[in-house]
Amino acid sequence: MRYAFMAFTSAVALASTPAFAGTSAALQPSGAWSLRETGSAPTPPMGWNSWNAFGTGITEAKVLGSAEIIRNSGLEDKGYRSINIDDGWWLKRRISDGRMQVRTSLFPSAAVGGPEESSLRPFTDKLHAMGFKAGIYTDIGRNACAQAWSPDNPNLPEGTQAEREVGLHGHVNQDITLYFKDWNFDYIKVDACGLSAYRPGNPRVDNGHFRPFGPLVVDANINQTNVAEVKRLYGEVRDALKQVRPSGDFVLSLCNWGSANVRSWGKDFGTIWRTSNDIDTSWGRMLHNFDSVSTRELYAGPGHWNDPDMLEVGNGQFDGNHLTEARTHMSLWAIAAAPLIIGTDLTKAPQAMIDVLGAPEVIAVNQDPAGNQGILAYTDSERQVIVKTLAKRGEKAVVLFNRTNEPTDITLTSAHLKFAAGQLIQLRDLWARSDLPGFTGMKMFHLRPHEAIMLKATGVPLAGEGRYLSEMTGRINVAQDGITALEADPIIHRMMDPYNPGTISDGNRPLYAGWGGPRADASPYDQTLRIANVPFRTGLGILANSRLEIKAQGEFKRFTAKVGLDDSTRGKRAAVRFEIYGDGKRLAVSRPMRFGMAANDISADITGAKVVELIARQLQPDTGNVVVSWADARVE
Ligand code: GLA
Repeated sequence: MRYAFMAFTSAVALASTPAFAGTSAALQPSGAWSLRETGSAPTPPMGWNSWNAFGTGITEAKVLGSAEIIRNSGLEDKGYRSINIDDGWWLKRRISDGRMQVRTSLFPSAAVGGPEESSLRPFTDKLHAMGFKAGIYTDIGRNACAQAWSPDNPNLPEGTQAEREVGLHGHVNQDITLYFKDWNFDYIKVDACGLSAYRPGNPRVDNGHFRPFGPLVVDANINQTNVAEVKRLYGEVRDALKQVRPSGDFVLSLCNWGSANVRSWGKDFGTIWRTSNDIDTSWGRMLHNFDSVSTRELYAGPGHWNDPDMLEVGNGQFDGNHLTEARTHMSLWAIAAAPLIIGTDLTKAPQAMIDVLGAPEVIAVNQDPAGNQGILAYTDSERQVIVKTLAKRGEKAVVLFNRTNEPTDITLTSAHLKFAAGQLIQLRDLWARSDLPGFTGMKMFHLRPHEAIMLKATGVPLAGEGRYLSEMTGRINVAQDGITALEADPIIHRMMDPYNPGTISDGNRPLYAGWGGPRADASPYDQTLRIANVPFRTGLGILANSRLEIKAQGEFKRFTAKVGLDDSTRGKRAAVRFEIYGDGKRLAVSRPMRFGMAANDISADITGAKVVELIARQLQPDTGNVVVSWADARVE
């Protein structure tokens, strides 16, 4: 049985409908794009950071040495603009007034103004004179990461317990003013070990070396993590930065490793946010970090980016002896619209590595102004086809990815690309920078072990003059995801436990909340979108009691979709009503839809609307999460 959709004009009709969580304020249309940018990054940030290359063995000479190579090799002109120092720069906090002191033995230019004085201003002046932005590192708690995890390191903060409290906690405004006003930094990475590693029971907390704190973040358990408090603390930093840098010319990098459900709120608090624990130089870890962003496509967009951590290109299994892996790592970060932060000692990098980092057509995909993250057009545990819709109409970037140790074949189809099946698709190899023979329908590629083929495809869009919403994820804001019980995402690759030798622990289990989050061209539980047994190749999958904002900017006339309960739903009893708003005005409302009912067409005249909102309102409680599909959702 098919239900027709009606455009309601009567508020009474809505108010009289029995409602459940669907009445919550979060489901009220905002009538506007409610995402407020933190800092400025219209495209993913690019630069260099000291950590992956030097750890706390950082020195001013090493940082400037890498900066010079970035300038002289042409990488600066290609977009690598930010030179960021990580853990290890600090000596202590001065007790008389709380001012942070630099370890001047490592940063000689900071030794200005007397023995109890220091300033990183000469250092940032040098970087600025070279045309760079300058980045600094701190922690949101009282103490930082190397203090907790590398106790034998020689460059740890010194002095009394209070002097060693180098993190922001209790000093947010003072430190942010020092770093951004006095020292003139432009970029800050704010780690979170201070919230997780200094719990009572830690021997060096119990013996008084560190003051106890929390924990507010329990890395492997979202239920033991105080999400609201973590958000509040990062919010203080965001607000201080906005005050000290009212121009908004800064980057705030949230580094709480995918904990505290940052997946959903990072966009409202930072410019970029880490989605996983630290990358390292192994293939398995790179897969893990990539997987932690590859299903988060609806959270990234201009000004706000998922961060799978800094590049290991040039190191370990991605060094000059592993050029295939180095290119693959770079291809994946590029198509995922991830920040491209170099993490290798460039003074030792062979030219081949500089060429990988500087591949102009690969970088162009990462920096494409539409800001769409690549989405998974095909995926199994071994092969993936990742497609990123580019700003220029009819252009897509695509990565064909062989995750395995064996050669394999991957067939790219016009459907993966959302191009018309009968029309010629032109191809360009973005690593070789040469055109390939085009194809119609499908084309098979042979891949070496660990290889990623990265292409640009040009064709006739299936959506005609319009576009599917999954082709404009950079213009979607997930205002309400409908998740009520946070669950760890089980589909992220888990390598051997990186923090305990061998297999002595009980393993590396699913870690990051986010399972059930909204997806493009998939259901929240990573199934094909499917309503009443009919599969759909495109659309948005999301839980009920959700609200999405679409930045339409008056460009479109009509929204259409086929809506219904998705067959991957957990709750099968409740009915859901689908509502479409334009600039806060209700444009169309569905009848209550139930599990098993055939998909129904819904459409709305969105002429002139700046923001279109899609609300899926659950009308009764249910025993499990109710999954809905906005299948074939498109604007034209
Ligand atoms: C954490 C971060 C890393 C690095 C180190 C420094 O582990 O995630 O990126 O900053 O701390 O100690």
